[in-house]
Amino acid sequence: MTGNKKYNIAIVGATGAVGQKIIQYLEEEPFQVNNIKLLSSKRSAGTKVKFNGREIVVEEATPTSFKGIDIAFFSAGGSVSEKLAPEAVKSGAIVVDNTSAYRMDENVPLVVPEVNASDLKDHQGIIANPNCSTIQMVVALKPIQEAYGLSRVIVSTYQAVSGAGLDAQDELKEQTKQYLNGEEMTANILPAGADKKHYPIAFNALPQIDVFEDNGYTKEELKMINETKKILHDPDLQVAATCVRLPVFTSHSESVYIETKESSVSVSDIRNVLENGKGIVVEDDPSTQTYPTPLSAAEKKEVFVGRIRKDLDTDNGFHLWVVSDNLVKGAAWNTVQIAQALVNNNLV
Ligand SMILES: NC(=O)c1ccc[n+]([C@@H]2O[C@H](COP(=O)([O-])OP(=O)(O)OC[C@H]3O[C@@H](n4cnc5c(N)ncnc54)[C@H](OP(=O)(O)O)[C@@H]3O)[C@@H](O)[C@H]2O)c1
Repeated sequence: MTGNKKYNIAIVGATGAVGQKIIQYLEEEPFQVNNIKLLSSKRSAGTKVKFNGREIVVEEATPTSFKGIDIAFFSAGGSVSEKLAPEAVKSGAIVVDNTSAYRMDENVPLVVPEVNASDLKDHQGIIANPNCSTIQMVVALKPIQEAYGLSRVIVSTYQAVSGAGLDAQDELKEQTKQYLNGEEMTANILPAGADKKHYPIAFNALPQIDVFEDNGYTKEELKMINETKKILHDPDLQVAATCVRLPVFTSHSESVYIETKESSVSVSDIRNVLENGKGIVVEDDPSTQTYPTPLSAAEKKEVFVGRIRKDLDTDNGFHLWVVSDNLVKGAAWNTVQIAQALVNNNLV
């Protein structure tokens, strides 16, 4: 808890997977909350959600919802942020936006507090929370970049369905039942709600997250590539990504190959900087089969790193296995940490 000031908070998307987690972390009092306004679409308006034991009636989010609000968390999709975040800023609120609407805007800091909290001081009302798979990767990359430089990153992801919202989680549950009952699986959401075709996710792996761009990459892959360069302040960093959805409910896993700028770096050097890195827990011991998994990382705030190996052919190449809860560090906890950093640095 910091200072005596109490803050008026709004959460747009309060009934969603990320919004519910934001409520949970605000209850832990990262800073003092005065009033809290829970906002959704018309669909959920009127429902009641508990905050610190109090029942709060959810209201429909409108341009006039933000009067008197200090910090507004947005987690209701890009089009809602595009429409309402500028209105919130006009009303005097600082927006912490979970969607991709403003991430690559050069006037908007894209922040993972362990990595680039100092970018917050340049904010002009909106701060963007990066993509979930980007967040966990840059937390692991930052201490290596600082110590030995980074020239290249190649990542393949193994992403959970909760990254696609509550409906996608329900779809995996339903398809699992259908498959085990010998019925045909019905697919309406994944790989991308907005795309033409849908495939079952249960007992499957889908090499498509979000829609395709003309260059053959998906939007999710391009988010990882572009956001990583922005957050690590290195437009020349070579980044390639392949993003895959798996039938896992929570936590994204990533196989990350990196090349350091410095040569003669050992595995124990990499392990050492990771062990001392902010927000990282190293779980890595082949002799005891110790490594992080989606289940072991679920509900935790840290980024877990294991399987640290030197590449067998490239002297400055290393492989890492990076796992974190996509709804926690990948979304809600990172946004609450951003708000906490704004409060701690008198930026709100
Ligand atoms: N899940 C993740 O891992 C993750 C990570 C980072 C970022 N994000 C981003 O966060 C956003 C929300 O994700 P989610 O997983 O929480 O989705 P979700 O579970 O589907 O929840 C969506 C939320 O947005 C609200 N909403 C929808 N349309 C609205 C409108 N027109 N006006 C106001 N509120 C509206 C919904 O309210 P109703 O209850 O009324 O429908 C609900 O509260 C997305 O943009 C997503 O890309 C998600």
